[in-house]
Amino acid sequence: MLFPYVLAVTALLLLYLRPWSRKSAGLPLPPGPRSLPFLGNVGDIDMVRPWRTYSEWKAKYGPIVSCRLIGQTVIIINSEKVARQLLDQRSAIYSDRPAGPVPKLFGIDFITAFLPYGDTFRLHRRLFHQALRPDAADSYRDLYLDKARQLLSNLLGSPEAFEKHLFLYTASIIMSVTYGYDKVSWDGPPITSIAKLAELINVGIQPERSAILTAFPILTRLPPWFPGASFQRIAQRTRTLALESMNEPFEFVKRNMAAGNAPKSMVSDLLNEMDGEKHAYSEQAVKQVALTVFVAGFDTSSSTLSSFILAMVLHPEAQRLAQQEIDSVVGIDRLPDFYDRPSLKYVEAVFREAIRWHIVAPVGLPHATSSDDVFEGYFIPKGSLVVPNIWDMSREGHDDPDVFRPERHFASDGTLLPDTIAAKPMWGFGRRGCPGRFIAEAATWSAAVHLLAVFRITKAVDESGKEIEVKEEFTSGVVCRPVPFQCSFVPRSTDREKAIRLGD
Ligand code: HEM
Repeated sequence: MLFPYVLAVTALLLLYLRPWSRKSAGLPLPPGPRSLPFLGNVGDIDMVRPWRTYSEWKAKYGPIVSCRLIGQTVIIINSEKVARQLLDQRSAIYSDRPAGPVPKLFGIDFITAFLPYGDTFRLHRRLFHQALRPDAADSYRDLYLDKARQLLSNLLGSPEAFEKHLFLYTASIIMSVTYGYDKVSWDGPPITSIAKLAELINVGIQPERSAILTAFPILTRLPPWFPGASFQRIAQRTRTLALESMNEPFEFVKRNMAAGNAPKSMVSDLLNEMDGEKHAYSEQAVKQVALTVFVAGFDTSSSTLSSFILAMVLHPEAQRLAQQEIDSVVGIDRLPDFYDRPSLKYVEAVFREAIRWHIVAPVGLPHATSSDDVFEGYFIPKGSLVVPNIWDMSREGHDDPDVFRPERHFASDGTLLPDTIAAKPMWGFGRRGCPGRFIAEAATWSAAVHLLAVFRITKAVDESGKEIEVKEEFTSGVVCRPVPFQCSFVPRSTDREKAIRLGD
């Protein structure tokens, strides 16, 4: 039984020795903390909120820092300027993803976010571009409005289940855009399996687990019953769900197409084009990008909305000012629309601030280098993990970055600053930057402005009428959301409430 461990230690030694033997042309790696043999800097990093450690290192070593994690060279970028110089401008070098056994083990190696830089990746990005580019995202405006009104109605029905309604809001937009589903239900197919898959992927790709399995690939051979190998059971379940989730909604579109009644969707558009002529992509690629949309967009978008609601509960004055603006621009006899957006400047500032205040993916997804590079006299070896500290970037140039203050998004002459959300580091960088950003941004704005128009969002009260305290606390992981909290959605006008109940 000792054999696997001996092999694992040997693998670790090889991993440890390999990067140092690379040619560095005599140049040093970027500065960083001293590391221990084997484990490297594992013990120095706050494993729950690694971005905080990276920011401390920025103060000590500067905007680009190197460290080592179990045999792996890691380059941490703590400044938007450097991220743009490397990940955007040298994207031919910085667009790979870390290689490791985890995505394959979990049967999700076809998800775009895990693909290495290569032909399949480029094909996926091309398909995304066709379906999710800005004008395509704009063509779904009626859908975002329609689903936002459905969200309001669900909130009137069962306000205490608001997290579930946010999930359903995001899921129904994604399922409609991707497959043309008119309605989806939380407890029925295909949402149950796809949402479970998204949840298991979040568990499966926890960075610590990935690091250990990458350093000790031999562990991926352990049987599921082996003590400590519970990940094998998750992996088994994920593999089954991934196949189910890829095939079921895809077959739904094909059936509708055969019957001649398929609504417009990403999958039907791509299949139609494929039949038409010239395109060399396969049905398999269409299935893969379609499922990627859900996996990548579901948790990120609903967490953003949950964070927005928490911000409104904790900052009633900002909420009041935003509502005052909606009442004066939109009036009280209709609901907001996208054409109101340019006039809703304070709402825009509140929306930007809610996103900045607790960034949903604080370190995004790691990139990897596909060849050696030299940057400002530092050597960056091929195969390095490159981690953008988006959390720190969202605080750059702001006084009191922890404070929720929408006013920071206005210039001194009172005009809204020109930097739009779509251009922010929160979407990642270069050729790996989030292809869903236009849909995500429009869909979350639509929900946020509708919530403000219709509800006063307040702390909930207990049976004795006392306010239930709400804490500014977030989960950790690739995607961070507020820890579950309670709040109340109080309709601001009986007319609007009636209209929503009647489905107006
Ligand atoms: C508020 C919501 C969202 C946020 C904050 C967000 C953020 C991100 C970030 C930080 C990355 C990593 C970028 C990088 O590696 O440089 C990413 C990747 C990705 N996102 Fe999003 N995202 C959101 C919603 C969506 C939606 C709705 C979709 C689909 C419609 C989507 C599709 C993707 C895909 C496919 C990738 C992988 C790209 C690749 O590896 O090439 N995202 N996203």
